[in-house]
Amino acid sequence: MDLTGIIQSRRSIRRFKDKPIPREILYSILDVARWAPSAHNAQPWRCIIIEDPLVKTELAREMGKAWLSDMLKDGVPRDKAEEIIRVENWEKIAKSPIVLIVCLTMENMHQYPDKRRRKAEYLMAVQSVAAFIQNLLLAAHWRGLGACWICAPLFCQAAVKRALRLPREIEPQAMIIMGYPDENPNPPPRRNVEEFCLLK
Ligand SMILES: Cc1cc2nc3c(=O)[nH]c(=O)nc-3n(C[C@H](O)[C@H](O)[C@H](O)COP(=O)(O)O)c2cc1C
Repeated sequence: MDLTGIIQSRRSIRRFKDKPIPREILYSILDVARWAPSAHNAQPWRCIIIEDPLVKTELAREMGKAWLSDMLKDGVPRDKAEEIIRVENWEKIAKSPIVLIVCLTMENMHQYPDKRRRKAEYLMAVQSVAAFIQNLLLAAHWRGLGACWICAPLFCQAAVKRALRLPREIEPQAMIIMGYPDENPNPPPRRNVEEFCLLK
């Protein structure tokens, strides 16, 4: 497949075969992903690789508790909330051969005294991490793997940090579930170029 084919045929894959990903394939994907552009070339991404079922359980438990608390506050009935968490959290994490938690660090980013520039610098780090994740998804697809970007850690950063005992300066941004695809979803529609571009 050429680059266009890889980009266009990548899909978010949420169901995986019960087949482990060889370590060297996973590392070859991360090795490609690290060539993403990043602000100041700071490479502000950090990646927690989870394959141990006990760690997955701990992560799912902490994330599940945080999600349940949010849903109950939103007025979702407890049994409905618990069912959503079972399907969307427990099963997703438990049934994914690899779970990656992609984090952000401001370690090598610039420091500014004012809020406006601190925010811009933080956003540059977020954008850099996103570029890394996109590379990761494309490289995984290119190696015959499926993956899905899951935003849940953003909503419960403290819970993820607790479960994985992450240091203070590491901020969870996303969860990437990965494995050999067990589904072949249709491509969700995309807007035409003319719809999102403004020529001046
Ligand atoms: C920032 C971000 C967060 C996402 N979070 C989730 C998520 O929490 N759960 C999920 O199933 N898919 C999630 N996705 C995947 C999108 O739903 C998916 O990319 C979109 O529907 C287009 O489908 P495609 O990736 O197959 O082209 C996320 C994607 C992005 C970029």
